[in-house]
Amino acid sequence: MSRSPRILVFDSGAGGLSVVHALRKQLPDADLIYAADTAGFPYGKWAEVLLVRRILRVMRDLLELVKPDCVVIGCNTASTLALDVLREEFQVPFVGTVPAIKPAAAQTKTGVIGVLATPGTVRREYTRTLIHTYAFHCKVMLHGAPRLAELAEIKLAGGAVDPDELLAEISPVFRKKGGAPADVVVLGCTHYPLLLDEMQQVAPWPVTWIDPAPAIARRTSSILADVEKTRADAVDVAQDTVILTSQGQATDIVPAGFAGAGFDKLRIVDIPL
Ligand code: DGL
Repeated sequence: MSRSPRILVFDSGAGGLSVVHALRKQLPDADLIYAADTAGFPYGKWAEVLLVRRILRVMRDLLELVKPDCVVIGCNTASTLALDVLREEFQVPFVGTVPAIKPAAAQTKTGVIGVLATPGTVRREYTRTLIHTYAFHCKVMLHGAPRLAELAEIKLAGGAVDPDELLAEISPVFRKKGGAPADVVVLGCTHYPLLLDEMQQVAPWPVTWIDPAPAIARRTSSILADVEKTRADAVDVAQDTVILTSQGQATDIVPAGFAGAGFDKLRIVDIPL
């Protein structure tokens, strides 16, 4: 008998929640399990070789624990680096999240697009190739924001985000450089849609912000349509569990941001750095 698809959503922190919202809409019957490599956060600051090793290590343990039908890498920093390696290494289908440069280049009227991402994603060959392939005719303001993902974590933990610091993090994509202004800004890190209201308030002028989450949810849905879900695996991780790799969690209370996204059980797994 067929059962609900089981999806593992993976990110370094809470950023993948922006993808979760779209997945819950697109696939309301799916069992979602969320894993955050909180011990490794932020991924944007890691050296590439070490980060690939870390992601493979964490994914091996997670797949054994969760046995998902599909993994959504809700993280640009991980996807632009490790998607191919993950697909080579493991059997399960992976859906990645990469900066939405193609739709941005198609939508801009001024011919200038902003790309906000982590310093890691900005350095990636993958990102450069996306720009050369799809936005060669545009001026691209590519910016690696040093602390924006951390600001999103602060907001999700109930803290206040300083508007001046937020503006400093995003302002490099709003430079005019004597030319036309950017009218489309790619949210190239899954944490950033979680700060969309705040960014809209401090942005020097209005732009279209592109969040790839709905496209990722559609892609996941089409992949799952081809996946056999007839296994009756005994798994000891229930749906709506959030798995964290950090030992810093003193209680078994689900952190507020995850609870607000429908995750009501917490599991801490020890995967030291
Ligand atoms: N949410 C992740 C992304 O989409 C990155 C955050 C981090 O630096 O760990 O790129």
